[in-house]
Amino acid sequence: MFHMVTGWHRPTWIEVDLNAIKANIKNEQKLLPKNVEIFAVVKANAYGHGMIPVADAAKQAGATGFCVAILDEALALRSEGFTEPILVLGAILKQDAKLAASKNISVTVFHKDFLEDLDLHTDGAKLNIHLKVDTGMGRLGFRTKEELHLATKKIEQDERLHLEGIYTHFATADEKNTTYFDSQWDKFEHMLTSLNERPRYIHCANSATSLLHAKAQKEFNMVRFGIGMYGLPPSEDIVDILPFKLQPALSLFSKIVQVKELQPKDHVSYGATYEAKENEWVGTVPIGYADGIIRHYSGFHVLVDGKPCEIIGRVCMDQLVIRLPKHYPVGTKVTIIGKSGDASISATDVAHYLDTINYEVTCLLSERIPRTYPF
Ligand SMILES: Cc1ncc(COP(=O)(O)O)c(C=O)c1O
Repeated sequence: MFHMVTGWHRPTWIEVDLNAIKANIKNEQKLLPKNVEIFAVVKANAYGHGMIPVADAAKQAGATGFCVAILDEALALRSEGFTEPILVLGAILKQDAKLAASKNISVTVFHKDFLEDLDLHTDGAKLNIHLKVDTGMGRLGFRTKEELHLATKKIEQDERLHLEGIYTHFATADEKNTTYFDSQWDKFEHMLTSLNERPRYIHCANSATSLLHAKAQKEFNMVRFGIGMYGLPPSEDIVDILPFKLQPALSLFSKIVQVKELQPKDHVSYGATYEAKENEWVGTVPIGYADGIIRHYSGFHVLVDGKPCEIIGRVCMDQLVIRLPKHYPVGTKVTIIGKSGDASISATDVAHYLDTINYEVTCLLSERIPRTYPF
């Protein structure tokens, strides 16, 4: 299989603090009763942090299973030797049911059609199923008790299938107003009454739900812990009511590769949109939109020597230019996300500037940037 080329010979890199990840999991664990398991959500290359090292750290800290979005991510975990339960949250193709069963990978089922005419071995491993209930997210899931009941009956009647879990997902768990959350909660409880037996896992909590909604911490027995594990708040709305201090794990650094002094009326980058007003020191930084630093970063700042330096002109595919407060030598460290001196820039700060969410900021960091684990 061919992977994207990673730039080990360019001074641009990500540092992931696995101790921060472990600390976030341990703090989460303290909130939860003993019987509630934490499944680490490591989809999308662990939100850009690197799936295998994060999964390893999460396991060491006490996570007992994993959630991924697609079957390939689950297969990658299995091929690295992880034997814990793995739940694929997204849809899998019917023709892959046999593969999932053979690797003991749990799948999400949200429609009874998936259960018709499944090609599975009769004497092999059972296919572990988590039924997904759409209580208001409007994405995947059974919407009525009748549909859910038909699916559970079908599973009971087919000895190749095993009902391992049932779950839902909230649309507004990260907001202070709980009206919509409460209506989803009630619908989930209503849907659960159609079950004859409770499966091993009943779960509804993403990070925001598990951090902020006391009833969700106690009521069910598994949480799908994603953004909080990476030390990032699920939304800006609830930063002030988080139950413990999240420790961000990811930092992104580069180094200046050229320094120059602009004269008044000199221009920078494509479109020559930036014009120097006076004599200005600027530095070229080897990172660009192909690395996930999208063009909208223009006008935002990075940190050099603890000081904010504006990203001037257009961000290019592989490079961007920053304005420096004074001359700095080539090789000076640039902090794009993380700490520099007493200053810091979080993925949430970046997201705020880009008018998006911190999830997107870290997920966008491409495979071209090496992930390192110095702690
Ligand atoms: C179904 C489901 N559960 C849990 C999560 C984890 O969410 P978070 O990262 O907010 O904890 C996600 C992530 O998008 C999800 O889609």
